[in-house]
Formats: sequence, structure tokens, C-alpha cells
Amino acid sequence: MGKFDDKVVVITGGARGQGRSHARALAAEGAHIAVWDLANGQNTRPPYRMASADDMAETVRLVEQEGAKVLPVALDLRDGAAVQDAVAKTVETFGGIDYLVAQQGAMPLTTETWNTTEEHWNDVIAVNLTASFLACKYVIPEIIKRGPGGAIVLTSSTAGLTTFPWLTCYGAAKHGILGLGKGLANELGSYGIRVNMVCPGAVDTPMVDAFAEANGLLKSDMWKQFDGADLLSGGLVKAEESTTPAIVYLLSNDARWVTGHTLVVDAGASIKPNAGNVAS
Ligand SMILES: NC(=O)c1ccc[n+]([C@@H]2O[C@H](COP(=O)([O-])OP(=O)(O)OC[C@H]3O[C@@H](n4cnc5c(N)ncnc54)[C@H](O)[C@@H]3O)[C@@H](O)[C@H]2O)c1
Repeated sequence: MGKFDDKVVVITGGARGQGRSHARALAAEGAHIAVWDLANGQNTRPPYRMASADDMAETVRLVEQEGAKVLPVALDLRDGAAVQDAVAKTVETFGGIDYLVAQQGAMPLTTETWNTTEEHWNDVIAVNLTASFLACKYVIPEIIKRGPGGAIVLTSSTAGLTTFPWLTCYGAAKHGILGLGKGLANELGSYGIRVNMVCPGAVDTPMVDAFAEANGLLKSDMWKQFDGADLLSGGLVKAEESTTPAIVYLLSNDARWVTGHTLVVDAGASIKPNAGNVAS
């Protein structure tokens, strides 16, 4: 018996990184998984290398290895019509949708806010916030059809709690995710559907590499930034031992009285005083 036997989970941005880890763990608990991801390997706007078709194929292989059914859907989540089409394909394949993990995202170019182009601002908000809104907008009616017991988790970031200068457009989008989730938790409570948010700290995924590439940074310099940044000497942690257990918990019946909550999984980085190594 798994926690999600024969339940259907949509994971946006699931072709690699944290989404792939979530897909495997939920499949191991008996769920069937629809993986929605751009999966075209392109440098899209914002200038950022997305998951490839090969990444998607690897996620499919790993999910199937857990004995689950999996539906890969390649789409741009910024396009409402494409999201509607993905909902139709998912319902046709699995008969309905019980849970949504909306966690696609991309980091921005580092720049002062007043030097951020309007185009770049709009791109970063579209990928990190509007795409999650569109996933919610079109998936929620299907979750409602299944009756009480459904759940949604939206991935924000510690950038949604505090501020990282020169990444302000990303922080604004991630703060927006918390507003979206709290609003939805209120609207969906009477349907017996829960909505929670996860704020990862530093997680070792292709996003970190792509951020270095897009900003002309050396990966080794990027990695050093995480040394000593948290309270537990976690550094860049693995999704499998950080955000994935948080997602599994928040979707599961163990969290049946938890809604509108923001679970911060950052080894204490966001509460660490930055005036020296006070904690060590
Ligand atoms: N890695 C970290 O340190 C970190 C920290 C805090 C928050 N996050 C957040 O966690 C989430 C998962 O990121 P990750 O670390 O696994 O990175 P990742 O780059 O490996 O995964 C993000 C996925 O989103 C997909 N995607 C992006 N734009 C898309 C679009 N328009 N349509 C469809 N798919 C799209 C990408 O192809 C990719 O597979 C993101 O929301 C990210 O902002 C990551």
C-alpha cells in the first residue's frame, strides 16, 4: 500500500531536477504521473537552458521503473491553450487529476532592477508566476471533479521570503507564488482541497548550472556561494533528501489539516544572521 495508490499527479517542470525527484518518489508511493515540461533543450526567454527531450525520456524511464504509469507532455506552460490541451491529454489518459505540483521555473539575469528590461521582467514573471497560475487555473476544475481530498503544492523559493539583490524580478515572482497559494487555499477549503507552498534553499539541480551559464559565471564560483550559507552545513543539497519529502508530506493525508502553509526547506539559511558566523 502506497500513500497515493492510483492517484494522478501533474508535475510541471518535471523533466529534470527537483521535479524528476518528486515524480520518482510519488510513483514509488503508487501514483501515476503526468510530467509537463518544455523539454526542448533550448535557451528560451529568460535566456536559460531548459530540460531536453532526453531529460524527459530519462524521467519517464525512472518513473516507469517504480511501476507507475507516466504521461510526458511537452509544452510551454506560459501558453494557456497549451495548458488546456495538456489537461485534456492527462484526463484522457488517466481519467482525472487528483494532485498538482506546480514547480517549473527559471532564474533571471543578474541586474539592478532599474536596469532590468521590461521584456526580461515580463519573461521572468511569466515562467515563474503566470505559468503556475495557468496550471492552477486549468487543473483545479479537474481536481474539484474528483471531490474532497485533492491537494496542490506550489514551489516558491527562499527568494519568495527574503530578498536577493540583482535577482529582484525572480524574488517578486516567488513572493507572488506565496500570494497565489494563500488565496487558493482560502478559495478551495470548502471543496476539501488543500494548497501549500514549499520554499527550497539551495538545491543541486541543473538550474544552478544554467544560472551560471546564463550569467557568465564559473560553476565553481557559484558553488562556493553556498558554503556556510545555512545553519546545518548543507550547502547545495539533493532534492531527494530535502524538497521531495516535503512535497510527499504536503500532498499526503498526513498533512490533512495543513493548508495555506509555507514549508521552508533551506537548512535555516533564511534565518541565519549574515553578520558573521554567529551560529558556528
Ligand atoms: N535549485 C535551487 O537551488 C532552487 C532554489 C529555490 C527554488 N527553486 C525552484 O524550484 C523549482 C524547480 O527547479 P529545479 O531546481 O528543479 O530546476 P530545473 O531547471 O532543473 O527544473 C525546472 C524545470 O522547469 C522547466 N520549465 C521552465 N520553464 C518552463 C516553461 N515555460 N514551460 C514548461 N516547462 C518549463 C524546465 O525545462 C526544467 O525542467 C523552480 O520553481 C525553481 O525556481 C530552485
